[in-house]
Amino acid sequence: MATDKQFGPQGWTPKRITSLAGKTYLITGANTGAGFQATRILLTKGAKVVMLNRNPNKSVGAVTKLRQEFGENADVSFIQMDLAELASVRNAATQVLEQLPQIDALMCNGAIAQIAKQELTVDGFESQLGVNHYGHFLLCGLLFARLEASKGRIVVVSSEGHKMGLRGIQFDDINWNKNYHPNKVYSQSKLAQMMFAYELQNKILGANKHVKVYVCHPGASNTSLINEKANLATRISWSIMVKLGMAQSAEKGAYPEVMCATENDLKQRAYYGPTGLLNFGGPVGECKLESFVLDQAVLSRLWTLSEQQTSFNWPV
Ligand SMILES: NC(=O)c1ccc[n+]([C@@H]2O[C@H](COP(=O)([O-])OP(=O)(O)OC[C@H]3O[C@@H](n4cnc5c(N)ncnc54)[C@H](OP(=O)(O)O)[C@@H]3O)[C@@H](O)[C@H]2O)c1
Repeated sequence: MATDKQFGPQGWTPKRITSLAGKTYLITGANTGAGFQATRILLTKGAKVVMLNRNPNKSVGAVTKLRQEFGENADVSFIQMDLAELASVRNAATQVLEQLPQIDALMCNGAIAQIAKQELTVDGFESQLGVNHYGHFLLCGLLFARLEASKGRIVVVSSEGHKMGLRGIQFDDINWNKNYHPNKVYSQSKLAQMMFAYELQNKILGANKHVKVYVCHPGASNTSLINEKANLATRISWSIMVKLGMAQSAEKGAYPEVMCATENDLKQRAYYGPTGLLNFGGPVGECKLESFVLDQAVLSRLWTLSEQQTSFNWPV
């Protein structure tokens, strides 16, 4: 449910962006879906975009497609990074720091969802938590100083799914070894991403740093997020939703993250996305941020655990 109409009845759209010439955006998981569409929108406004993608072949295809649309001089490239592997995240961050003197926004978009059976990353994390939360936690930490020097921002792409599980973190069995459930585990991972963002805001304030942190969700968008890794029932119900027109386009799904990466004067302690029926689609604006997401004891505990699990101490 929308809590305000900051951008008028149509909500936020890319028409609000004038020019992004001279700005640099980093985005994870951008060779398809909302991330690809976010890249397109940023390129239409003259930005430089560097994608952090796990699959080099798909990334070459994505860059080729974007150059066909925007011309050979379109400033788009990729660095290979697998969020499921901390070593790969570290390696990609090193390349980013070598190549990009300025980062205006780091958009944490890449994710996996509804993995039917428990899988572990090479670092031993339940895969949805590992990719969606721990991978981004480490990436943001490694790039934080460059973001600070750039007066940049971090955009966390979460999901309405964060409300559809335990509404908490299962600390006593964070990999869900005993009661694995695809949807609840996805929910936990997207909640963890949000909790990371709000705790980071706390820490930035405490350390008198200047990086801004925003959280959004893309509504229900017609992307490849639900794929062969999801169970049959989930795939069928998703395809019915798509056929019934309940999922908006991937391009519309990209609006909230592009808004958070580019719009001035957004509130940080907030949650943005489509504000229509069930927040599936509709005008992009501010959505209700539930109080369980800001439970300080959980925020602090998750932060400490995440530093331990990623063997990374944040510079704030
Ligand atoms: N679509 C929806 O209705 C919906 C709803 C709520 C939230 N979201 C969120 O929206 C964001 C974008 O998802 P989407 O819907 O656009 O899905 P998508 O089309 O599946 O795109 C997800 C992207 O993440 C990448 N990715 C997956 N695992 C990765 C890894 N280990 N390392 C690096 N990149 C990885 C994928 O790369 P590959 O191309 O290599 O697979 C893909 O490019 C996600 O954060 C998702 O949780 C989506």
